Amino acid sequence: MKSFLGHPVFSIISEVAESMQLRTFVIGGFVRDITLNRNSKDIDIVVLGNGIDLALNVAKKIGPNAKVNVFKNFGTAMIRYNEWEVEFVGARKESYRSDSRKPIVEDGTIEDDYSRRDFTINAMAIGLNNDNFGELFDPFDGLGDIDRAIIKTPLDPEITFSDDPLRMMRAIRFAAQLNFKIDPICFKAIKKNAERIKIVSGERIVEELNKIILSPIPSDGFILLDESGLLPIIFPQFSNLKGIEIVEGKGHKDNFYHTLEVLDRISFHTNNLWLRWAALLHDIAKPITKKYLPNEGWTFHGHEFVGSKMVKSIFRDLKLPLNEKMKYVEKLVLLHLRPIVLSEEIVTDSAIRRLLSDAQEDIDDLMTLCEADVTSKNPEKVKKYLSRFQLVREKLKEIEAKDKIRNWQPPVSGEEIMEAFNLTPCKNVGIIKEAIREAILEGEIQNNFDDAYQFMIDFGKTLGMEIVNNKKGN
Ligand code: CTP
Repeated sequence: MKSFLGHPVFSIISEVAESMQLRTFVIGGFVRDITLNRNSKDIDIVVLGNGIDLALNVAKKIGPNAKVNVFKNFGTAMIRYNEWEVEFVGARKESYRSDSRKPIVEDGTIEDDYSRRDFTINAMAIGLNNDNFGELFDPFDGLGDIDRAIIKTPLDPEITFSDDPLRMMRAIRFAAQLNFKIDPICFKAIKKNAERIKIVSGERIVEELNKIILSPIPSDGFILLDESGLLPIIFPQFSNLKGIEIVEGKGHKDNFYHTLEVLDRISFHTNNLWLRWAALLHDIAKPITKKYLPNEGWTFHGHEFVGSKMVKSIFRDLKLPLNEKMKYVEKLVLLHLRPIVLSEEIVTDSAIRRLLSDAQEDIDDLMTLCEADVTSKNPEKVKKYLSRFQLVREKLKEIEAKDKIRNWQPPVSGEEIMEAFNLTPCKNVGIIKEAIREAILEGEIQNNFDDAYQFMIDFGKTLGMEIVNNKKGN
């Protein structure tokens, strides 16, 4: 373990701890991660005594490069030092009430501190004093559980999860992130305590959900969320995708498993959390738009439109940001069928220009989503769709090179229209602007100022308007 502690931050903590005669350990996630050869810059230090005093002295020793924040109410302090974040806390014993995640905290021994932790793999520590520098303390065989790839609580899981129900989400998150299994007794306790997740704040839950979505194979996490009973509580809209209905012997596909397949497939191509969210929500409105029509079979007409309208309330419920990330997800959900429709028809230039104009800078992400959405079990069909998408991609490139629609700005601005016809802001300005846009998308005129200006003059005439200031003539 010593080799991992080569950074000067550890020798400084060790020196200061020794001079203050404090038993001090690195504990938790950092120890787990170095054991797994994962790179971590978040260090948790636990000390038998006052964590804040130790932090202040360590910061003094490091000098002006160290920024300290003290959280007196929690008895903790955090030092930021270059790319490192080091959190200091006194060893604790915690007890919980049934209606709250907030523990009653008392000073404890290092053994108390190990036992209050969530999982055996997170309850390992490394000594930082002179007599034990670099020595691993592993009271619950966390190393063995890492070897066996098992998530397990140090105490009876009923106690660990009931104390802090967020840990049920953490168990599933670690299982998905690390490709570990959850110990069966532990999983049984999650099932039993699932309802208690309701006392945890939405912000903490979604932090774990996002980590599950960012895992290498996110469906592993979602299947566990579903099997544990947590999913319908934390994300009912997604849980509703489950199931197949059969009418006249015809069933539709199970949109829950289809969506998870799309999510896994897109995760091979992107680590963009919001593109993964778009994959997760692309069919979210299927349950409420679903209809069986005797001549057509199962239909989901308008699910892309209704789905994009659902994004905001889902983001609000889940405490996700209601900002441009949400707008991006709305847009991708709304447009997710467009390239499919295109690939089924003869691809005209104007249809491609319209798609570029609507998707703008997100066109590549939209294509990635559509390609991930091809989950047919029939290899011939998959081949056919993917090669058509390839055609759409080529066509997009070709049209973009020619017409520059992707970052489209109207070639003649509203101000220029008003100046030309001597207008104050009015409905006609919008009508002319839209007519110019349509003419460009339809390929009637080129996407440049001269063509658009001439079009504006001619179109103005059809509205009975004469040009007053001819900028083109100037
Ligand atoms: N911990 C816990 N119960 C929690 C949260 C954290 O017992 N609900 C303990 C674990 O020992 C954990 C340590 O506090 O290792 C640090 O927690 P945190 O920084 O939130 O998570 P990490 O385990 O470091 O994992 P990650 O950085 O991936 O979130």
